[in-house]
Amino acid sequence: MLITGKGGVGRSVMTAALAKLAASRGRRVLVTEVGDEGDDYSPLARHWSRERLPRLPEPLEPNVHGCVLLARTGQELFLKSVLRSGTLARAAIGSDALRRLLSAGPSFREMGVFFQLLTALREKSGDQPAHELILIDMPATGHTLSLTGLPELLLRLVPGGPIAAALKEGQGYLNDPKQASAWIITLPETLPVSECLELIDGLKKTKMPVGGVVVNRMPSDPFSPAEREALAPLVDRHAWLGRELFKKPLVAHRELARLRSHTALPLFVTPELPHDGLIAALSRVLDTATPLPQPVGGG
Ligand SMILES: Nc1ncnc2c1ncn2[C@@H]1O[C@H](COP(=O)(O)OP(=O)(O)OP(=O)(O)O)[C@@H](O)[C@H]1O
Ligand SMILES: [Mg+2]
Repeated sequence: MLITGKGGVGRSVMTAALAKLAASRGRRVLVTEVGDEGDDYSPLARHWSRERLPRLPEPLEPNVHGCVLLARTGQELFLKSVLRSGTLARAAIGSDALRRLLSAGPSFREMGVFFQLLTALREKSGDQPAHELILIDMPATGHTLSLTGLPELLLRLVPGGPIAAALKEGQGYLNDPKQASAWIITLPETLPVSECLELIDGLKKTKMPVGGVVVNRMPSDPFSPAEREALAPLVDRHAWLGRELFKKPLVAHRELARLRSHTALPLFVTPELPHDGLIAALSRVLDTATPLPQPVGGG
């Protein structure tokens, strides 16, 4: 599952809540995020009281392993599989010239991340897959699309050999809706909804199946329609503190309706929740979440 969306919408909390929920149902989960060399802090790792996730899968809690997907780790794993020697792979990746080459092309970076993911997908425990559910806290929109678009792009340039074989194998997982799906997290606000609609199109173009959309942080409305009607003229006349807050639930419903009219994907809504105990509360909400009914006449 690729957890994606605009910056700040709640991708990391959603990834953590889903990981904990699946683990509590007895699934063997691998929780990952796409990292950058030199990152020294991960908001995702914080949910397991760690500064950052380990480079290779390590247990974080019962049923949950975690690791960071890094270009360099994946490139090293790839070289190791081609050269069939860890020593040679480490020597190769340690060479300045090769390192410069690998960090110069953006596709090499994506390829590293892609290969590390493929390694995790291949990993076995006995004759079963080591990880039943792999959750990836994806980077913001543009980087997500360069990762999901990587196989098609690179296969045109390198149609044969070990890189092509790995890309085709990865494509077999990622483009199969029975095995993989992207979930888009958004907020019920204008810009995030617009970006979410663009991301749905972008993912379709890269042949990445989309499971659905989660509209996160839906505000509750403390006012009845009659109260709103009485307050609206007053609020509109004055630039009072709280005017935006008063309008927030209205904007949220308008944006939810816009999303529904533009996509037939399953839509889930998660509410604005208290900061304390957020992950546990979000897990509970997700545990019983059902998609919004489709509007009459289809979406
Ligand atoms: N349902 C919610 N209720 C209340 N607060 C929330 C909810 N979802 C997310 N938040 C808060 O919103 C903030 C952003 O969440 P998070 O870090 O998961 O977003 P992100 O998409 O991973 O952001 P980034 O782009 O920085 O990686 C956090 O402070 C988080 O606690
Ligand atoms: Mg995040």
